[in-house]
Amino acid sequence: MTRLPIRLTVNGEPAEVLAEPRTHLADLLRGELLLTGTHIGCEHGVCGACTVELDGAPARSCITHAGACDGATIRTIEGFGEDAVMAALREAFSAEHALQCGYCTPGMLVAARDIVLRLPGADEARVREELSGNLCRCTGYRGIVRAVMRVLEERRGR
Ligand code: FES
Ligand code: FES
Repeated sequence: MTRLPIRLTVNGEPAEVLAEPRTHLADLLRGELLLTGTHIGCEHGVCGACTVELDGAPARSCITHAGACDGATIRTIEGFGEDAVMAALREAFSAEHALQCGYCTPGMLVAARDIVLRLPGADEARVREELSGNLCRCTGYRGIVRAVMRVLEERRGR
């Protein structure tokens, strides 16, 4: 198969990789760029474990072809170090016991950050609905929902 150059900005840094255009973004991130914080679960767009930010919005990297990402800006869980919302979410996840094995957590955090920014007035029902595309086999979701609500409420209280 032909490998083509794919140019990306990943976590603020330019990256160029040679890949078959149909390579999945998750495999490219993990295998070529060694960004293994992006997890792979179902590999068909259902569980959300592989969620990354693609041009500013959450995307499932297991069903996104690398060839379609040429020129794109991507942020993986490793790339949110200085981000205030992500920092608040990390703290809230810890305080609310929102993770156990942690497998879903990178994708869950990327999705949660998007909810906090996009839906600042969201109530618990809306948060549950928005997170329904991210599967967690361990926690029963209560801690996760509490953590997201905690950050939303903190921000509303400012
Ligand atoms: S691994 Fe991508 S949605 Fe499950
Ligand atoms: S913490 Fe284990 S899958 Fe969510």
